[in-house]
Amino acid sequence: MCGITGYIGYRKAYPIIINGLKRLEYRGYDSAGLILYDGKDIKMAKTKGKVSNLEEKITNNITTTGNIGFGHTRWATHGIPNDINSHPHFSESENLAIIHNGIIENYDTIKKELINRGYTFKSDTDTEVLVNLIEEVKKQKGVKLGKAVQIALNEVVGAYAIVVFDKTKPNEFVVAKLGSPIAIGIGEDNTEFFVASDASPFIEYTKNAVYLEDEELAIIKVGKSIKIRKIKDDSLVDANILELKLNLEQIEKGGYDHFMLKEIYEQPKAITDTFRGRLLANKGIIRMAGIDDNIQRLLNANRIIIVGCGTSWHAGLVAEYLFEDIARIPVEVEYGSEFRYRNPIITENDVVIAISQSGETADTLAAIKMAKEKGAFVFGVCNVVGSSIARETDAGAYTHAGPEIGVASTKAFTTQITLLTLIALKLGEAKGTLSKATYHTYLQEMELIPNKVETLLTINDKIKYIASIYKDATNFLYLGRGFNFPVALEGALKLKEISYIHAEGYPAAEMKHGPIALIDENMPIVVIATKKGHYEKVVSNIQEIKSRDGKIIAVVTEGDTTVKEIADHVIEIPETEEGLTPLLTTIPLQLLSYHIAVMLNKNVDQPRNLAKSVTVE
Ligand code: AGP
Repeated sequence: MCGITGYIGYRKAYPIIINGLKRLEYRGYDSAGLILYDGKDIKMAKTKGKVSNLEEKITNNITTTGNIGFGHTRWATHGIPNDINSHPHFSESENLAIIHNGIIENYDTIKKELINRGYTFKSDTDTEVLVNLIEEVKKQKGVKLGKAVQIALNEVVGAYAIVVFDKTKPNEFVVAKLGSPIAIGIGEDNTEFFVASDASPFIEYTKNAVYLEDEELAIIKVGKSIKIRKIKDDSLVDANILELKLNLEQIEKGGYDHFMLKEIYEQPKAITDTFRGRLLANKGIIRMAGIDDNIQRLLNANRIIIVGCGTSWHAGLVAEYLFEDIARIPVEVEYGSEFRYRNPIITENDVVIAISQSGETADTLAAIKMAKEKGAFVFGVCNVVGSSIARETDAGAYTHAGPEIGVASTKAFTTQITLLTLIALKLGEAKGTLSKATYHTYLQEMELIPNKVETLLTINDKIKYIASIYKDATNFLYLGRGFNFPVALEGALKLKEISYIHAEGYPAAEMKHGPIALIDENMPIVVIATKKGHYEKVVSNIQEIKSRDGKIIAVVTEGDTTVKEIADHVIEIPETEEGLTPLLTTIPLQLLSYHIAVMLNKNVDQPRNLAKSVTVE
């Protein structure tokens, strides 16, 4: 997720762009850059780091004149965060400049073709490939920028929100959208236009905006009304101009009250972005360079040691069930803090998988360094490109969750599980420990998960009602079995860390070994009782709770009638493969903890005593 913003009109462009970038930093902060057109030439400044680093660089390098320009704050997906990979990018002729939010999946094929035609590239980004494709189309077809962009975009596969500028026609922008957001602010009488990932950079200048729809392209010229066309067939589209009612803070949170809720609702897109370009279900292929390049190390591993902390450790527990069930590889899961001090027995036949959203957790990083010293191969699963853990590991794969601002991890958890599931399936398929039929079923079912999460999110009001009943409880118990035991732990952690209510997660069968003594009419027990996975056993656990007057909040597979007869509240989730149920069962638990914390007036996004990244021991 990156932030893009641009201006064309009668005002000085620089202050609008730089302030706009600051407002968009929540969308990504690996690097930042901008261009300004001063009537003669395009001036560009870009740098690794935050927008404040860009401001310093601009002061010493370029004049800030000009009333046309655009800027970008990056969340890296291709190419590590550094100056040269920062946006904007020039085409080879330096006549065209582009900023881009999204992923071009087939950029490597297009890049090879352009290299064959004599193009050279300065960066490792997919974006530089796109701007040169547009230049090549413009040259070959002798068409204007808008037409060249339209033709080029019909050749790319992926997601984009782009702004393209041609210094040979300096009175217009071409803007296009597929999968990533673009808002166009429209000034009075079309005397000025603003382009941005959301309205936060221009809400103080105009409340009139058009939000491009997917596969739409707009040509923006000062003094003319905006022209919107369908990328597929160039047909004209009526501009739907909205009058915005949101204030600045609401815009940054996408209209949600908190970043945590926004990130819960971003999970369908985050899961899609994480398997995009990797999961080719109709071809029966899972493509992951980091795994492909090291497949023998993984297949021949004596065991896989998964290391993480907090929510990442819970994702590791889910992965343990997945890897052992699907790929038949022995797995153990370790807390980073315990593993690093335990003097464990590690050999070069071990593979360590380190999981970390931030990529900066000190205990996980230290555990990785120790494992490498003892000869293990270390694979990283991180959400932040170029983070310390991403750089320390021998290979890795990134979750494409986008920045996770809320301290309580939500989309990081589901995207970690998504990635780990793909790895387990890839290894199982390579080892032949998974039948072709099951393999293909999993691939097709994984593609349906984002829609099932979307459907699941519609039960928000029901969860809010349940939260209102139990918000004053002083203790919760979360129970689950098999793949959903780690989800019970994760649900308890979510509640603890944002509502400050004590909660414990347990394997459902463990209840009779102690926790059952806690149960009385004042204790809510959340039980994950999905159809697949020891269902009958969990039902008998629920009956044991009922007989002690515990209050039961059960998460069941839709259509369940048995648990409905016993539980106080039933939350239904769509049916899916057993190994994929954590991607769904965790959603209502995230919402439950969120609504209880809000009702208790807690600081949901920054809970007391917690930090988003624990970079200290
Ligand atoms: C989870 O909601 C917490 N924010 C915390 O447990 C977190 O998962 C843990 O600190 C690990 O962080 P990491 O994934 O960035 O390494």
